[in-house]
Amino acid sequence: MKSLIVLCHPERTSFNGYLADSAAEALSPYGEVCMSDLYTEGFDPAEGPSHFATPLNTSRFSALAEQRAAYQNNTLPADVAREIERLEWADFVLLQFPIWWHSAPAMLKGWFDRVFVSGGLYTSSMRYGNGYFRGKTAMCSVTLGAPADVCVPGGRGGDPDAMLWSTQYSLHYMGFAVLPPYICTAVQGEGYRYTDDESFVARLTSLETGLAQRLSSVREDTPLSFADWDDWDSDGRPLSG
Ligand SMILES: Cc1cc2nc3c(=O)[nH]c(=O)nc-3n(C[C@H](O)[C@H](O)[C@H](O)COP(=O)(O)O)c2cc1C
Repeated sequence: MKSLIVLCHPERTSFNGYLADSAAEALSPYGEVCMSDLYTEGFDPAEGPSHFATPLNTSRFSALAEQRAAYQNNTLPADVAREIERLEWADFVLLQFPIWWHSAPAMLKGWFDRVFVSGGLYTSSMRYGNGYFRGKTAMCSVTLGAPADVCVPGGRGGDPDAMLWSTQYSLHYMGFAVLPPYICTAVQGEGYRYTDDESFVARLTSLETGLAQRLSSVREDTPLSFADWDDWDSDGRPLSG
């Protein structure tokens, strides 16, 4: 099983940075591991005209039209082409990121915006169960500052499953089987809550142990259940309910 870890965090010595490294170690017995470290590699998350050297239309920018043309003409931006190559290579994709404002950080959202190329990696018929990455598995590993007992539907911290819905549904849209996430609560970064090395390392070690254990079963895990083509009428409306 070849694994790609997509790390989205601006600080390499953060909980998320270390968790990405321990995930790489935990996955290495099963096959090669590659890391996309979005901040270190300077990934530009903002889709826009500057990414298209030979645009279809110079007076009005359409992301969908430019992506499709760049894919067809083999003129995708180098960073996007590199990320696609890594995704094509991998059997298993782990997204490692902190929850920021009840969602994924903007950098990771921008990675979806740019890397999942319209007209190339998805079309009206090539999505969900017919998605480009069908046969591959993906999973989110996230940290939240709020404690576990308030991270529930209706609780003060909010429902982590709701926070991950758009990320996981987009992975499903692209054809991935999406495994249940690894969610770490009460993680507040070094220099904030964990002001000394000892408490930071103790907390990190428990999170790393949990992640390694979780990753040891990814080859057998049951994916999350999402609605798919069989659940919709020809206009995409749900058949039941
Ligand atoms: C911009 C920003 C927004 C955040 N929003 C949330 C949030 O919505 N819910 C939450 O529980 N924690 C939130 N946090 C706390 C982070 O999730 C927490 O600091 C992080 O998981 C710690 O891991 P790290 O040391 O790898 O950064 C936020 C932190 C930042 C910087």
